[in-house]
Amino acid sequence: MSVTVRVPAKVNVQLAVGGARPDGFHDLANVFLAVGLYDEVTATPADELRITCAGPGADQVPLDRTNLAARAALALAGRHGLDAAVHLHIAKDIPVAGGMAGGSADAAGALVACDALWGLHTSRNELLDICAELGSDVPFSLVGGAALGTGRGEQLRPLDVGGTFHWVFAVADGGLSTPAVYREFDRLTEGTEVPEPLASQELLDALAKGDATALAAALSNDLQPAALSLFPSLAGTLAAGRNAGALAGLVSGSGPTTAFLVRDAESAAEVAESLVASGTCRTARTATSPAPGATVVGRVTG
Ligand code: C5P
Repeated sequence: MSVTVRVPAKVNVQLAVGGARPDGFHDLANVFLAVGLYDEVTATPADELRITCAGPGADQVPLDRTNLAARAALALAGRHGLDAAVHLHIAKDIPVAGGMAGGSADAAGALVACDALWGLHTSRNELLDICAELGSDVPFSLVGGAALGTGRGEQLRPLDVGGTFHWVFAVADGGLSTPAVYREFDRLTEGTEVPEPLASQELLDALAKGDATALAAALSNDLQPAALSLFPSLAGTLAAGRNAGALAGLVSGSGPTTAFLVRDAESAAEVAESLVASGTCRTARTATSPAPGATVVGRVTG
């Protein structure tokens, strides 16, 4: 028996970041949008917990118990008094350490796959609780679609999306560590009054209407200056995407992937080609949003 779960990447169409909290996290107004680039997690019974990973960047994925997918399986097994005797295979397509929640996707995928494999029927709310313990972005990977995340990003309110948005993602050569980007945000904002993070009504309206031009005008990411400070060449990637005809571009989450909102599929193909030709990124991917959350896509019995 094995269970395969497909989980989307995300882009933050707004990432408003408040000051550092006493626990070190930052309060956010985080507008998540799931995009159709997917990792797949397959859970198969095994003698003991084992992780394997294949696909672009797989060599950078830890295969020990620090892997978020392993931690998800252990957390679910622990709640039910079970042994996490499972082989988790991750088929990677989401850029690794790219600011697109690939690790969070694998955690949500592992949770749903193990729940189905072990026949646990854990409630949605309990799964969301486990997700929130694993990481700030993991609950969104479970639910997909679009959502406003508050608190440290884990408290979700689903949002309406009135159409399909087309994106190009420029994958950088290298990764950025999320904690390092938040530390740089703290350094850059030291001595300034960081305002309370609030979702932009213009942005929520643009999403609800499916209006790409209005969404392009409202995109924002408070972590972008910090990501650019640590990875200065991203400025060249942003310029190349805008020059190629994107409606707008921004750093995705903590980066270093950059996201370009474009008019349609044809424009996406053109912008992706120009970005690769510009030599300012390793590769470019096109995708549409919204995309569904963690979904069982295969069950093999026997
Ligand atoms: O929750 P997660 O494990 O994804 O967070 C990774 C790191 O990102 C945290 O350890 C923290 O440094 C930073 N972070 C933050 N504020 C948030 C979310 C993440 O400072 N709201």
